[in-house]
Amino acid sequence: MSALISAQEFANRRQRLMQSVGSDAAVILPAAIHHRRNRDSEYRFRQHSNFYYLTGFAEPEAVIVLLPGRAEGEFVLFCRPRDREMEIWNGYRAGPEGAVANFGADQSFVIDELTQRLPELLAGRRQIHAPMGEHADFEQQLTTVLVGLRARSRAGVAAPVAWQVLDATLSEQRLIKSPAEIALMQRAADISAQGHIRAMQLAAPGRYEYELEAELLHEFVRHGCAAPAYNSIVGSGHNACILHYNDNNKMLADGDLVLIDAGGELDHYAADITRTFPANGRFSAPQRALYEVVLAAQLAAIDCVKSGASWQAPHDAAVRVLSQGLLDLGLLQGSVDEVIEQGLFRRFYMHRTGHWLGMDVHDVGDYQQNGNWRPLQAGMVLTVEPGLYVAPDDETVDPQWRGIGIRIEDDVVVTDAGHHVLTAAAPKTVVAIEALMGGA
Ligand code: GLY
Ligand code: MN
Ligand code: MN
Repeated sequence: MSALISAQEFANRRQRLMQSVGSDAAVILPAAIHHRRNRDSEYRFRQHSNFYYLTGFAEPEAVIVLLPGRAEGEFVLFCRPRDREMEIWNGYRAGPEGAVANFGADQSFVIDELTQRLPELLAGRRQIHAPMGEHADFEQQLTTVLVGLRARSRAGVAAPVAWQVLDATLSEQRLIKSPAEIALMQRAADISAQGHIRAMQLAAPGRYEYELEAELLHEFVRHGCAAPAYNSIVGSGHNACILHYNDNNKMLADGDLVLIDAGGELDHYAADITRTFPANGRFSAPQRALYEVVLAAQLAAIDCVKSGASWQAPHDAAVRVLSQGLLDLGLLQGSVDEVIEQGLFRRFYMHRTGHWLGMDVHDVGDYQQNGNWRPLQAGMVLTVEPGLYVAPDDETVDPQWRGIGIRIEDDVVVTDAGHHVLTAAAPKTVVAIEALMGGA
């Protein structure tokens, strides 16, 4: 059971979902698949975010069935049975008894009874809300049950008529975070910021990228983050220009910048922070000039985060500041409007300025509604992460800029008053970074 989200909040989430699907619907979703790494060794299990969001139940081989209005109980959880021998080897199982006692299930059965019980549970439900394209075996099993129910419609059983993609329904609910979720994300952000500080403190020419990665992991894990929220990027020198670099095996050289994009996952909620700093503790003049442009773009973008503003506003603000900076420093020519309209900035800034953040690092939720960028609302959490990346072999620019990669990323929650930066504890001004690294 989650230590940080209450049983009542999990119950409220299920109620809200049942209200939105309606009384003739059923929601059904399986736990994440436990993937093998090699032979008989497995990756550590991580529950599917939707499954965890609705239950706080972190075991594999389980299925949730929500049946609005069902007299014998609306929340049915199938799970593994208690098994003394298996528990000695692999750890505790709640079992159906624990599912009822500790996870709020109205009824619980062992997972082996799923196929036998599902037809009765789903009989008469017209809309089936289930995942699509995520879990082939389960979806095949469900298809067989639904086809069987349709065949029984001649005997008077109301047949299911629609398989709705559960994601679409649940994503809108997950997009707006509750106070408890924001408190949890603040904690994940604080732990992650400390990890970045630790990595900056260790950094020096001669250290390896993986030594900095180890500092991050040490800080995440010792504060209860079971894992990083995504593969940590520690890119020094030219590696900072590889957007999804994660070899993390190069030695830091004097004069390199180091780009670290890393965040911990706490109780299934992510932090996502990027900081860029000099390996030797002092920015060179060209590094500093580009860094100040990215920082100004990031601050301008964060300024746009407020309730009612468009999702697109932070991106537009960042692009304008970056474009002007590229012109001022001579990396591009023309007017700022030309640079933006013709997309010339994309040579140095090829990704978007942010994404939703939550249980998944690229969290769920639509970015557009009716063909327009949606307005921001209190409780949404997004990243703001502009960058500039000058390819090492870009002969159109002065050599002093080549191979410099910079990104600055914070996690920002939209509030009624404007916004709050969850990741403010990680230093990002030139002065603060140089002071921390002892290079000032
Ligand atoms: N770390 C993934 C991202 O920043 O989007
Ligand atoms: Mn990131
Ligand atoms: Mn990000």
